[in-house]
Amino acid sequence: MSWRATVLTLFPEMFPGPLGASLPGKALEKGVWLMETLDIREFARNKHRSVDDTPFGGGAGMVMRPDVVDAALGAVADRPGPVIYLSPRGRKLDQPMARDLADGPGVTLLCGRYEGVDQRVIDSRRIVEVSLGDFVLSGGEPAAMAMIDACVRLLPGAMGSEESLDEESFERGLLEYPHYTRPQAWIDHDGVERVVPEVLTSGHHEKVRQWRRAEAERITAERRPDLWSAYVAAGEEDGN
Ligand SMILES: C[S@@+](CC[C@H](N)C(=O)[O-])C[C@H]1O[C@@H](n2cnc3c(N)ncnc32)[C@H](O)[C@@H]1O
Repeated sequence: MSWRATVLTLFPEMFPGPLGASLPGKALEKGVWLMETLDIREFARNKHRSVDDTPFGGGAGMVMRPDVVDAALGAVADRPGPVIYLSPRGRKLDQPMARDLADGPGVTLLCGRYEGVDQRVIDSRRIVEVSLGDFVLSGGEPAAMAMIDACVRLLPGAMGSEESLDEESFERGLLEYPHYTRPQAWIDHDGVERVVPEVLTSGHHEKVRQWRRAEAERITAERRPDLWSAYVAAGEEDGN
């Protein structure tokens, strides 16, 4: 059974969008994963077919109605995997979460618009909230795309070489080491010659491995003290 992404949105025409290109697009074509969108507007029942209304208590903006969103969720209740509401208030998406989701049968994603979704539907369906980061998007769709992309590339058969996954940023609690390709010596825009670190052209696999590990550790310690502390606490350093 293919991994299945079900997206509830007011803008189904946005999908697959970027997910139809490159790696996720090829995997979609191959049937490694399936994409389904549900137009929340189709579940609007009042005579104006409205999906939103003004907030109780006043204030700016509109809120997505619980009856409409709940009817849409009910229509896909049998889809596999958890239901997630993309929301800036949620737990931040990270690589372990993407891996957990990719290891499961799929995910149903609820995309908010306006000021978001009426709290009662989130409470009554015990929906998990997940955020892309500490910033506010105009809608959940770009967040859903990012989340699906992060999961799909982890699915068996989505990537050419499984090896490239193990070494990636976050997979071992570290950011990735720097990459270099041809030409070996390159003149930059200031006329400075920049050469590839010698060890990478030495043909000595163990030294390359050690250099990459040391660089990954250096970059992580410099840029992400939070990741570095967790890595040190887990006793992973020292070139294992
Ligand atoms: C304009 S935002 C609503 C922001 C909300 N009023 C607040 O201040 O928390 C509309 C929708 O975009 C989505 N969204 C915005 N920022 C997001 C983020 N950082 N991660 C995930 N989804 C986000 C959510 O689905 C949200 O319901």
